[in-house]
Amino acid sequence: MQQINVSVRLQKFLASAGLASRRSAEKMIGEGRVRVNGEIVQEMGKKIDPREDRVEVDGIPISGPARKHYFLLYKPGGYLSTVKDPFGRPTVMDLFPPQLQKGLFPVGRLDLDTEGLLIMTNDGQLAHYLTHPRFQINKTYHALVRGIPSRSELQTLRKGLVLDGKTFLPARVKLLSAGKSTQQAKLEIVLAEGKKRQVRLMCKAVGHPVIFLKRVSLGFLTLGGLKPGSYRRLKKGEVDRLYCLAPE
Ligand code: URA
Repeated sequence: MQQINVSVRLQKFLASAGLASRRSAEKMIGEGRVRVNGEIVQEMGKKIDPREDRVEVDGIPISGPARKHYFLLYKPGGYLSTVKDPFGRPTVMDLFPPQLQKGLFPVGRLDLDTEGLLIMTNDGQLAHYLTHPRFQINKTYHALVRGIPSRSELQTLRKGLVLDGKTFLPARVKLLSAGKSTQQAKLEIVLAEGKKRQVRLMCKAVGHPVIFLKRVSLGFLTLGGLKPGSYRRLKKGEVDRLYCLAPE
Protein backbone atom coordinates (compact mmCIF):
# COMPACT_ATOMS: atom_id res chain seq x y z
CA MET A 1 0.00 0.00 0.00
CA GLN A 2 1.10 3.54 -0.69
CA GLN A 3 2.75 5.17 2.35
CA ILE A 4 1.18 8.54 3.10
CA ASN A 5 3.39 11.16 4.66
CA VAL A 6 1.56 13.01 7.44
CA SER A 7 4.45 15.17 8.59
CA VAL A 8 3.90 18.85 9.35
CA ARG A 9 6.23 21.76 9.92
CA LEU A 10 7.15 22.19 13.56
CA GLN A 11 5.89 25.79 13.78
CA LYS A 12 2.57 24.77 12.21
CA PHE A 13 2.26 21.89 14.66
CA LEU A 14 2.90 24.19 17.65
CA ALA A 15 0.41 26.74 16.33
CA SER A 16 -2.29 24.16 15.65
CA ALA A 17 -1.77 22.62 19.09
CA GLY A 18 -3.12 25.98 20.29
CA LEU A 19 0.18 26.88 21.88
CA ALA A 20 1.07 29.99 19.98
CA SER A 21 0.52 31.88 16.78
CA ARG A 22 2.67 30.70 13.89
CA ARG A 23 4.93 33.74 14.40
CA SER A 24 5.40 33.22 18.15
CA ALA A 25 5.96 29.51 17.51
CA GLU A 26 8.83 30.51 15.23
CA LYS A 27 10.19 32.77 17.97
CA MET A 28 10.05 29.87 20.49
CA ILE A 29 11.94 27.67 18.05
CA GLY A 30 14.52 30.39 17.39
CA GLU A 31 15.05 30.81 21.14
CA GLY A 32 15.89 27.12 21.46
CA ARG A 33 12.89 26.36 23.68
CA VAL A 34 11.58 23.50 21.55
CA ARG A 35 12.88 19.91 21.57
CA VAL A 36 11.94 17.11 19.21
CA ASN A 37 12.70 13.65 20.57
CA GLY A 38 14.96 15.25 23.17
CA GLU A 39 16.99 17.37 20.72
CA ILE A 40 16.73 21.17 20.59
CA VAL A 41 15.50 22.22 17.15
CA GLN A 42 16.20 25.73 15.91
CA GLU A 43 15.77 25.03 12.23
CA MET A 44 12.54 26.58 10.87
CA GLY A 45 11.48 24.14 8.20
CA LYS A 46 11.85 21.04 10.42
CA LYS A 47 9.09 18.54 9.74
CA ILE A 48 7.69 16.21 12.37
CA ASP A 49 5.18 13.38 12.45
CA PRO A 50 2.72 14.39 15.21
CA ARG A 51 1.85 10.74 15.83
CA GLU A 52 5.42 9.54 16.29
CA ASP A 53 7.63 12.43 17.40
CA ARG A 54 7.84 13.72 20.97
CA VAL A 55 7.69 17.50 21.04
CA GLU A 56 8.46 19.55 24.17
CA VAL A 57 8.32 23.29 24.78
CA ASP A 58 10.30 24.48 27.81
CA GLY A 59 10.51 20.83 28.84
CA ILE A 60 6.73 20.34 28.78
CA PRO A 61 5.56 17.56 26.45
CA ILE A 62 3.15 18.72 23.76
CA SER A 63 2.76 15.36 22.13
CA GLY A 64 4.24 11.98 22.65
CA PRO A 65 4.42 8.59 21.08
CA ALA A 66 1.62 7.48 23.43
CA ARG A 67 -0.71 5.11 21.61
CA LYS A 68 -3.35 6.99 19.76
CA HIS A 69 -6.80 5.52 19.37
CA TYR A 70 -9.19 6.21 16.54
CA PHE A 71 -12.70 4.80 16.47
CA LEU A 72 -15.63 5.14 14.15
CA LEU A 73 -18.72 5.01 16.35
CA TYR A 74 -22.33 4.56 15.30
CA LYS A 75 -23.82 6.97 17.82
CA PRO A 76 -27.35 5.96 18.78
CA GLY A 77 -30.01 8.56 19.59
CA GLY A 78 -30.27 9.55 23.26
CA TYR A 79 -26.51 9.88 23.86
CA LEU A 80 -24.74 13.21 24.25
CA SER A 81 -21.63 13.88 22.16
CA THR A 82 -19.59 14.89 25.16
CA VAL A 83 -17.16 13.31 27.60
CA LYS A 84 -19.12 14.08 30.74
CA ASP A 85 -22.56 15.45 31.44
CA PRO A 86 -23.11 17.46 34.65
CA PHE A 87 -26.66 16.02 34.82
CA GLY A 88 -25.46 12.43 34.51
CA ARG A 89 -27.21 11.76 31.21
CA PRO A 90 -25.79 9.04 28.93
CA THR A 91 -22.84 10.17 26.85
CA VAL A 92 -21.02 8.52 23.96
CA MET A 93 -18.28 7.56 26.44
CA ASP A 94 -20.67 5.05 27.99
CA LEU A 95 -20.50 3.06 24.76
CA PHE A 96 -16.78 2.26 25.36
CA PRO A 97 -15.30 -0.04 28.00
CA PRO A 98 -13.46 1.77 30.85
CA GLN A 99 -10.01 0.69 29.59
CA LEU A 100 -10.58 2.53 26.29
CA GLN A 101 -12.18 5.65 27.74
CA LYS A 102 -9.00 7.32 29.03
CA GLY A 103 -8.30 10.46 27.02
CA LEU A 104 -10.98 9.63 24.46
CA PHE A 105 -13.35 12.34 23.22
CA PRO A 106 -15.76 12.85 20.32
CA VAL A 107 -14.59 14.86 17.32
CA GLY A 108 -17.30 17.43 16.71
CA ARG A 109 -20.84 16.76 17.78
CA LEU A 110 -24.12 15.24 16.82
CA ASP A 111 -27.30 16.39 18.61
CA LEU A 112 -28.70 14.24 21.40
CA ASP A 113 -31.34 12.79 19.08
CA THR A 114 -29.15 12.50 15.99
CA GLU A 115 -27.75 9.09 15.14
CA GLY A 116 -24.79 8.15 13.06
CA LEU A 117 -21.13 8.41 12.33
CA LEU A 118 -18.93 10.01 14.98
CA ILE A 119 -15.16 9.79 15.24
CA MET A 120 -13.79 9.22 18.74
CA THR A 121 -10.09 9.67 19.45
CA ASN A 122 -7.48 10.75 21.98
CA ASP A 123 -5.51 12.52 19.23
CA GLY A 124 -5.97 16.25 19.81
CA GLN A 125 -4.02 17.07 16.69
CA LEU A 126 -6.34 15.17 14.39
CA ALA A 127 -9.41 16.52 16.20
CA HIS A 128 -8.07 20.03 15.74
CA TYR A 129 -7.70 19.44 12.01
CA LEU A 130 -11.10 17.81 11.61
CA THR A 131 -12.97 20.57 13.43
CA HIS A 132 -11.10 23.42 11.77
CA PRO A 133 -13.61 25.65 9.91
CA ARG A 134 -11.44 25.39 6.81
CA PHE A 135 -11.70 21.61 6.88
CA GLN A 136 -14.55 21.35 4.40
CA ILE A 137 -15.03 17.63 4.36
CA ASN A 138 -18.45 16.50 3.20
CA LYS A 139 -20.82 15.19 5.82
CA THR A 140 -23.82 13.29 4.50
CA TYR A 141 -27.08 13.18 6.44
CA HIS A 142 -30.31 11.31 5.89
CA ALA A 143 -33.22 13.30 7.25
CA LEU A 144 -36.81 12.17 7.58
CA VAL A 145 -38.88 15.33 7.44
CA ARG A 146 -42.50 16.27 7.98
CA GLY A 147 -44.34 17.02 4.72
CA ILE A 148 -43.01 16.71 1.21
CA PRO A 149 -40.70 19.53 0.15
CA SER A 150 -41.51 21.16 -3.18
CA ARG A 151 -38.93 21.68 -5.90
CA SER A 152 -38.53 25.31 -4.94
CA GLU A 153 -38.07 24.43 -1.24
CA LEU A 154 -35.37 21.94 -2.22
CA GLN A 155 -33.75 24.66 -4.35
CA THR A 156 -33.77 27.02 -1.36
CA LEU A 157 -31.88 24.42 0.67
CA ARG A 158 -29.44 23.89 -2.20
CA LYS A 159 -28.69 27.56 -2.67
CA GLY A 160 -27.86 28.18 0.98
CA LEU A 161 -29.69 30.25 3.58
CA VAL A 162 -29.20 33.04 6.05
CA LEU A 163 -31.04 32.33 9.30
CA ASP A 164 -30.92 34.66 12.29
CA GLY A 165 -27.82 36.26 10.83
CA LYS A 166 -26.09 32.88 10.36
CA THR A 167 -25.08 31.90 6.85
CA PHE A 168 -25.51 28.31 5.78
CA LEU A 169 -23.52 27.56 2.65
CA PRO A 170 -25.02 25.82 -0.39
CA ALA A 171 -25.66 22.12 0.17
CA ARG A 172 -26.27 19.11 -2.04
CA VAL A 173 -29.86 18.02 -1.44
CA LYS A 174 -31.65 15.03 -2.94
CA LEU A 175 -35.20 13.84 -2.37
CA LEU A 176 -34.72 10.12 -1.68
CA SER A 177 -38.36 9.21 -1.14
CA ALA A 178 -41.72 10.76 -0.46
CA GLY A 179 -44.67 9.08 1.27
CA LYS A 180 -47.97 10.59 0.12
CA SER A 181 -49.95 8.68 2.77
CA THR A 182 -47.55 9.43 5.64
CA GLN A 183 -46.81 12.97 4.42
CA GLN A 184 -43.15 12.44 5.21
CA ALA A 185 -40.09 12.60 2.98
CA LYS A 186 -36.54 11.33 3.19
CA LEU A 187 -33.81 13.75 2.12
CA GLU A 188 -30.11 13.28 1.59
CA ILE A 189 -28.25 16.43 2.58
CA VAL A 190 -24.51 16.85 2.05
CA LEU A 191 -22.88 19.68 3.97
CA ALA A 192 -19.33 20.93 3.72
CA GLU A 193 -19.61 22.71 7.08
CA GLY A 194 -20.81 21.73 10.52
CA LYS A 195 -22.80 24.45 12.23
CA LYS A 196 -24.82 23.64 15.33
CA ARG A 197 -28.19 21.99 14.51
CA GLN A 198 -27.62 22.94 10.88
CA VAL A 199 -29.76 20.29 9.17
CA ARG A 200 -32.63 20.75 11.63
CA LEU A 201 -32.57 24.55 11.23
CA MET A 202 -32.37 24.39 7.43
CA CYS A 203 -35.28 21.95 7.11
CA LYS A 204 -37.41 23.86 9.62
CA ALA A 205 -36.74 27.09 7.72
CA VAL A 206 -38.39 25.67 4.59
CA GLY A 207 -41.35 24.34 6.59
CA HIS A 208 -40.29 20.69 6.93
CA PRO A 209 -39.10 19.95 10.46
CA VAL A 210 -36.83 16.95 10.96
CA ILE A 211 -38.40 13.88 12.52
CA PHE A 212 -35.29 11.70 12.42
CA LEU A 213 -31.69 12.51 11.52
CA LYS A 214 -28.72 10.27 10.83
CA ARG A 215 -25.19 11.05 9.64
CA VAL A 216 -24.30 8.33 7.18
CA SER A 217 -20.85 9.44 6.06
CA LEU A 218 -17.96 11.76 6.75
CA GLY A 219 -15.72 12.19 3.73
CA PHE A 220 -14.66 8.73 2.63
CA LEU A 221 -15.83 7.10 5.88
CA THR A 222 -19.23 5.41 6.04
CA LEU A 223 -21.09 3.50 8.74
CA GLY A 224 -20.70 0.27 6.77
CA GLY A 225 -22.25 -2.63 8.63
CA LEU A 226 -22.06 -1.06 12.09
CA LYS A 227 -25.11 -1.25 14.34
CA PRO A 228 -26.23 1.64 16.59
CA GLY A 229 -24.00 1.73 19.68
CA SER A 230 -21.17 -0.25 18.09
CA TYR A 231 -17.79 0.96 16.87
CA ARG A 232 -14.67 -0.16 15.04
CA ARG A 233 -11.08 1.02 15.05
CA LEU A 234 -10.06 3.12 12.07
CA LYS A 235 -7.37 1.49 9.97
CA LYS A 236 -3.96 3.17 9.77
CA GLY A 237 -4.57 4.02 6.12
CA GLU A 238 -7.88 5.71 7.05
CA VAL A 239 -6.18 7.83 9.73
CA ASP A 240 -3.47 8.80 7.22
CA ARG A 241 -6.13 9.82 4.73
CA LEU A 242 -7.88 11.97 7.35
CA TYR A 243 -4.55 13.70 8.10
CA CYS A 244 -4.11 14.31 4.39
CA LEU A 245 -7.41 16.19 4.30
CA ALA A 246 -6.09 18.74 6.83
CA PRO A 247 -6.16 22.35 5.72
CA GLU A 248 -2.78 23.91 4.90
N1 URA B 1 -27.24 18.92 11.84
C1 URA B 1 -28.13 18.88 12.86
O1 URA B 1 -29.14 19.56 12.84
N2 URA B 1 -27.86 18.04 13.88
C2 URA B 1 -26.78 17.26 13.95
O2 URA B 1 -26.61 16.52 14.92
C3 URA B 1 -25.86 17.32 12.88
C4 URA B 1 -26.11 18.15 11.84
